[in-house]
Amino acid sequence: MKKNIFERSGKEKQVFKDEKYLYPEFVPERLPHRDREIDALVYGFNPLVKGGKPHNFFVVGPTGVGKTACVKYVLNELQEYSDRAKALYLNCFEFNARHAILSKIANFLGAPVPRRGIATDEIYSRFLEALKKADFSPVIVLDEVDQLLLKADGSKLLYDLLRVVEYERARVALVLISNDIELTAKLDSRVRSSLTEEKIVFESYTPAQLKDILRERASFAFLSGALGEEVIPVAAAHAARLGGDARIAIESLLKAGREAEKENSGKVEVKHLKKSFESVDAVSLLKGIRHLNESEALLLKLIAEKPGIFSGELFKAFGGKTEPLSERRLRDLLNGLEKKNFVFSEQVSLGNKGKTRSFSCRLPREPLMRELNRNQ
Ligand SMILES: Nc1ncnc2c1ncn2[C@@H]1O[C@H](COP(=O)(O)OP(=O)(O)O)[C@@H](O)[C@H]1O
Ligand SMILES: [Mg+2]
Repeated sequence: MKKNIFERSGKEKQVFKDEKYLYPEFVPERLPHRDREIDALVYGFNPLVKGGKPHNFFVVGPTGVGKTACVKYVLNELQEYSDRAKALYLNCFEFNARHAILSKIANFLGAPVPRRGIATDEIYSRFLEALKKADFSPVIVLDEVDQLLLKADGSKLLYDLLRVVEYERARVALVLISNDIELTAKLDSRVRSSLTEEKIVFESYTPAQLKDILRERASFAFLSGALGEEVIPVAAAHAARLGGDARIAIESLLKAGREAEKENSGKVEVKHLKKSFESVDAVSLLKGIRHLNESEALLLKLIAEKPGIFSGELFKAFGGKTEPLSERRLRDLLNGLEKKNFVFSEQVSLGNKGKTRSFSCRLPREPLMRELNRNQ
């Protein structure tokens, strides 16, 4: 009888025990090197367990440093511990319109909201009513909240919520997560105070920390002995160079494992990892574009439009498009883009005029521009 093409021959050498532990959406039970951040969240949510008013949080830090994972982990624990607490998680890439978000929240609070034919302001008043009546303590998480500030409608929603939290003295806790350190500065000073209440800054991981994280995840995902000794240190060093991003580190391990299974080699080695770097890098860099702030995105665009552009030219071009930056600030932004591996720079001699730096993108122009334009 003909064998089905999906049937395994039995000769494949597996390396994974269960690869799902390396999926980006998997929420681990242990998050090494995030004790301080987790404790701060637990402390802030504590009053909520007793029916009191919890803190609001502003969670901020670069991409891939465990912001989403820590918040989700703490909220899972909270809801398991107390019937009183219920959390609603919304990612603002997915939900960024006032209408959609208010509907979600009103529904979550137990107010029936028809899907069609209801004005946004009507939903807003239903939301306020439901909030007063709710027999549990709601926690609302807005992840990637900077996405809301791109449009007037989204900003209005954010202000609605902040005002409710600030003035109505509601028992609702708001958790805003962002990779934009300057987010609070962009907000109106009247609502800023409700946010600065509890700010938790997540720093990039060091190579040693990334190693611990990878070891932890790998112990669940791989069969024992399936990982070559050098694989984790190399993956950690690589991700550290790309800005201390745990997502890149974990994803490269997953791809390396798949590569090893494809080759049927029975063991993951550095050569598999190196192969995985290329695909992970391009994909995660492109994804990372959504996390750039406005100034960084504009700079990247200017560099993509003219590979090899000098820093002086960038300074002028930037000033022509938006408010001029200080040279110092421009240098910081460029260093940041280089550290995150979006661009690379070279020293250029200008003869008797001294030296300057030229900048070029590390990504192919076309997908890069597409991604940058998508985010405007
Ligand atoms: N300390 C950690 N231990 C284990 N896994 C982690 C840790 N920090 C981050 N991760 C994992 O790395 C990936 C990126 O983390 P995430 O929370 O999404 O980052 P952020 O929200 O800051 O961009 C996720 O798959 C997450 O599970
Ligand atoms: Mg996140």
